[in-house]
Amino acid sequence: MTSSFPKDFLWGGAIAANQAEGAWNVDGRGPAKTDVTTGGSVDAPRFVTYIDKDGNPGKAPAMGHNGIIPEGAKYAVLDNEYYPNHLGVDFYHRYKEDIALLAEMGFKVFRLSISWSRIFPNGDETEPNQAGLDFYRKVFEECHKHGIEPLVSMWHFDTPLYLEENYGGWGNRKLIDFYVHYAETIFTEYKDLVKYWLTFNEINNTVMFLDMFGASASDEAFQDGYQQLHYQFVASARAVKSGHAINSDFQIGNMICGITFYPATCDPKDVLANRHKWEQGIYYCGDVQTKGKYPTFAKRLWKEHNVALDITEQDLEDLKEGTVDMYTFSYYMSNNVTTHADQEQVAGNFSTGAKNPYLTYSDWGWGLDPLGLQYYLEKVYDRYELPIMVVENGLGAFDTVEEDGSIHDDYRIDYYSPHIQAMEAAIENGVDLRGYTTWGCIGLVSAGTGEIRKRYGFIYVDVDDKGQGSLERSRKDSFYWYKKVIASNGGDLD
Ligand code: BG6
Repeated sequence: MTSSFPKDFLWGGAIAANQAEGAWNVDGRGPAKTDVTTGGSVDAPRFVTYIDKDGNPGKAPAMGHNGIIPEGAKYAVLDNEYYPNHLGVDFYHRYKEDIALLAEMGFKVFRLSISWSRIFPNGDETEPNQAGLDFYRKVFEECHKHGIEPLVSMWHFDTPLYLEENYGGWGNRKLIDFYVHYAETIFTEYKDLVKYWLTFNEINNTVMFLDMFGASASDEAFQDGYQQLHYQFVASARAVKSGHAINSDFQIGNMICGITFYPATCDPKDVLANRHKWEQGIYYCGDVQTKGKYPTFAKRLWKEHNVALDITEQDLEDLKEGTVDMYTFSYYMSNNVTTHADQEQVAGNFSTGAKNPYLTYSDWGWGLDPLGLQYYLEKVYDRYELPIMVVENGLGAFDTVEEDGSIHDDYRIDYYSPHIQAMEAAIENGVDLRGYTTWGCIGLVSAGTGEIRKRYGFIYVDVDDKGQGSLERSRKDSFYWYKKVIASNGGDLD
């Protein structure tokens, strides 16, 4: 069966270092905030743990205002807490087996992230940690051995903890230089092994996240959020510029948490609110990184929350000179925007919205909407006209292992199939879509809830929410299905 996917379409899957590698304190790696973040569930939040200035243990919600801890407190791993990212799914020690399984499915591309604190344990060193560099070299070589192209995220929510504690994290301009040094180090080190790079995973979360708290987020929180974003924009732009100088073949992308927003009603107030939601949540970051300048509506956004930013002339030059080569995004759901308080609310990936009566929702409350993916692709391509990749898409669901070890995840196939059709329809409508990396192709720790039982992907890992299990890998039904999809270049979705 033929399809409209280009013949060199990059089919694959994605993971992130902090959610999969484990080995959190091995071979010189420094901790990241994810290492002081507890497990949670759909109803119970994750916490960041610390010892306060009087020596008492404490916890702060990880999702509220960036998991900020009280003044004088130090992030700490507490004895009576469990930290799922410490083990992940032990990709650090099992990457060969994992990559072989991906190759068996016919993967063309594998998206993974480099843990910054494996390369620079504190983040502000001049010299990198050789053991960290060696690890990723081996991983990339293993990918190439199987004909798989690595696609590397350089930051996936895992700033070295030392930088958070001693510099105040991304609220400090100095992080730009530290990040650029890290970027130049890995670009130089892997210039012959990696062609595709992404600077910051879901960079727009910082402000989308605040929006979750609606009116309750303070102006101060918005001030911090927009300022952090500005420093990340400059860091990203300077990294892109350096990357191109190191290897002109590099394809460097941004990465946006892509949510399709719809007005919940045809009330013009909802329609306008929806437009503004796209501006604040999606275009603000996309515009800066692809066009090299702030959009005109930025002034309105800053004014709404009395935001005054530290932006220099040199920053504006850097933004102009470091625009990305491709636009990439994650897509899990759509959301309804409304000004009507009486609408039933649902929670999702870094956003909330009114319930959409035309959609079904996952066990974690995410609105399942394949057509929303087509809508997003077409809208964003129309705006930027850059090559696009969908670098995350997937269903977090409960999987059951049968007595004979098989896992019948037809619900996952039912999720992927219409999403792939939606991508094909977007291609037919002119979108230059280059690749698709499904999320959690190997099981991993959920970023939002810290659970493992929120299972993603095609390869099941025998481990539970407390780290118990053999860590053995097994193939789900969707494994064989995706293999067929790749072999037929998206032509056989049955
Ligand atoms: C994206 C992140 O927001 O969504 C991933 O880039 C994350 O890190 C994914 O895992 C799915 O979210 P969750 O909360 O189900 O892990």
